[in-house]
Amino acid sequence: MSEFKYRRAQFFAQMNKNSMAIFPAGSEKIRSNDTEYPFRQNSDFYYLAGFNEPDACLLLIKKTDSQKAILFNRKKDKSAEIWHGYRLGQSAAVSELGFDKAYQFEELQDHLQKRLDGLTTLYFPIFQDANLDKTLATVINELRAGRRKGKVAPTTYIDSLSILHEMRLIKSTSEIELLSAAAEISAAGHICAMQKCHSGMWEYQLQAEVEHEFALQGTRDAAYNSIVAGGENACVLHYTENNCQLHDGDLVLIDAGAEYQGYAGDITRTFPVNGVFSEFQAKLYQLVLDAQISAISQVKPGVALLDINKSVIKQLVDGLLELGVLQGDSDTLIKNEAYKEFYMHGIGHYLGLDVHDVGDCGSTENPRLLEAGMVVTIEPGLYISSAADVDDVWKKIGIRIEDDVLVTEFGAEVLSADVPKSINEIEALMADAQQHG
Ligand code: GLY
Ligand code: MN
Ligand code: MN
Repeated sequence: MSEFKYRRAQFFAQMNKNSMAIFPAGSEKIRSNDTEYPFRQNSDFYYLAGFNEPDACLLLIKKTDSQKAILFNRKKDKSAEIWHGYRLGQSAAVSELGFDKAYQFEELQDHLQKRLDGLTTLYFPIFQDANLDKTLATVINELRAGRRKGKVAPTTYIDSLSILHEMRLIKSTSEIELLSAAAEISAAGHICAMQKCHSGMWEYQLQAEVEHEFALQGTRDAAYNSIVAGGENACVLHYTENNCQLHDGDLVLIDAGAEYQGYAGDITRTFPVNGVFSEFQAKLYQLVLDAQISAISQVKPGVALLDINKSVIKQLVDGLLELGVLQGDSDTLIKNEAYKEFYMHGIGHYLGLDVHDVGDCGSTENPRLLEAGMVVTIEPGLYISSAADVDDVWKKIGIRIEDDVLVTEFGAEVLSADVPKSINEIEALMADAQQHG
């Protein structure tokens, strides 16, 4: 509770006087007819409220002499709780979560109508939540319409997320612990996949092994839809169909991460279905691995991910030239972006409550520099589809190697280091598993 209260205090400190900030929770989404997808809380709301039920809203109200954190949440309801599950209710929201007041969710609009009257600044996630936008339009237009009766609508509207996402970008000690746990559980899932993989298996069966291990390690959720892509399927960057058989002689790319107490792991490993890299697979794999290791070695405060990516591009292009996959002059190939046929995504992204976590990245001309406390992924890859104009030996190979990296004061710490990535280590792990059944 103290961490969430501390974050609310940090947000209050950045609010104008005489203002309100609104943070809506997530709502349940229908999967089919009357069944829902598993509920996942809105990350911004969770970061400040620490509350995991749908249909809720947090108000922070700052006046000259007071600041109040008020939760609106579902009311206790015996029948709903018998059918669907426990609800915290209002009095426990105050005693257990430390809000100053809690009211029923249904009362939100009435409270906004009363409490916004006379405040000058309103912070909310502008254009992010259609229901909230609509409610606010009604409430604020009513205040405007009542101006001759002494009602006063806010005149300054600020996107609350610009402040909040800057807070979320730099992780606290306890967030780093949760991200480390998510990375460790994710690593265990990848190790298990290497141990269980064999030709003839279906991609979704290997996915089940990864996610089964997540559950055994203490978390039931994946942070995003797992990608298990055999052979050429790995050339589809966000392949999630996972419905093909794995073939002897192919590589399989697994991009999967556990979500632990809301925090995401995001690991990719690529390994041979039969446990042994072929000559050409090994050459491309080693090139990606060398680029990934050198990228990680560049992670430290003051460096931009964009600049790390430039050095990765140079390394990949030079390697592809050496292997004969690309022909020509390195600088020209880079200038013409010829590498984009084989490496078409960025080097990585922020990681946190969201797998592609929030936070300002700067612009191409003026990129954001890394700071201690940020957590990023480093995930170069090479993808050579059957349509590529290269020698057949290189075709149908997709490789990505992705780790989760904490930026520390002087450098970096790899949170996902438990899962092997060198050719020797992967082959040894798989051989051992094959031998011992
Ligand atoms: N799993 C999505 C990504 O690596 O960015
Ligand atoms: Mn990623
Ligand atoms: Mn990933």
